[in-house]
Amino acid sequence: MNDLQGGHMEILISEQDILAKVTELGQNISRDYDGKEVILICVLKGAVMFTVDLAKHINIPVKLDFMAVSSYGSGKVSSGVVKIIKDLDDSIEGKHVIIVEDIIDSGQTLNYLLSVLWGRKPASMKVCALLDKPDRRQANVNADYIGFTIPDEFIIGYGLDYDQLYRNLPYVAMLKED
Ligand code: IMP
Ligand code: MG
Repeated sequence: MNDLQGGHMEILISEQDILAKVTELGQNISRDYDGKEVILICVLKGAVMFTVDLAKHINIPVKLDFMAVSSYGSGKVSSGVVKIIKDLDDSIEGKHVIIVEDIIDSGQTLNYLLSVLWGRKPASMKVCALLDKPDRRQANVNADYIGFTIPDEFIIGYGLDYDQLYRNLPYVAMLKED
């Protein structure tokens, strides 16, 4: 893989392991929301791959909506600033919603999203994150459904980017400096 600018990648979670976990999460959500309808809120762009695969493994009625927030600049360091770039299309009032995130790192993005979305009075709101980096947490937030807890490494692939690249990798890899 080129363009890694003095770094290299090491695979952390294989495509097979991701899909097994996503299947399991979909089954858990289907069981927990049995008899209900759920809205998956995909947080763009990082959660796209995860949301699509997860939705395919949920067997209760599902609606998809999308939200884009900025939390990082173009590099590896958080700007600390969160703002809405694209809002949901539909009201979530009285609905059961699950925020689908690629990764919870500092927790700032999720903390902000939760406070904004609770204000819209959903019937319930949970969080499903593919990856959790608890060592880096600054805000007191956690996911209800977690795929993998990972060490404090910069991650690319399966939706996660470095400077907008590598989202298309089917696995999750660590970006290491040479
Ligand atoms: P947080 O607000 O610090 O929890 O970060 C949330 C967002 O930052 C995630 O949804 C990702 O888009 C991005 N992010 C956090 N850690 C990484 C990483 O290791 N690689 C790529 N993007 C990351
Ligand atoms: Mg990102």
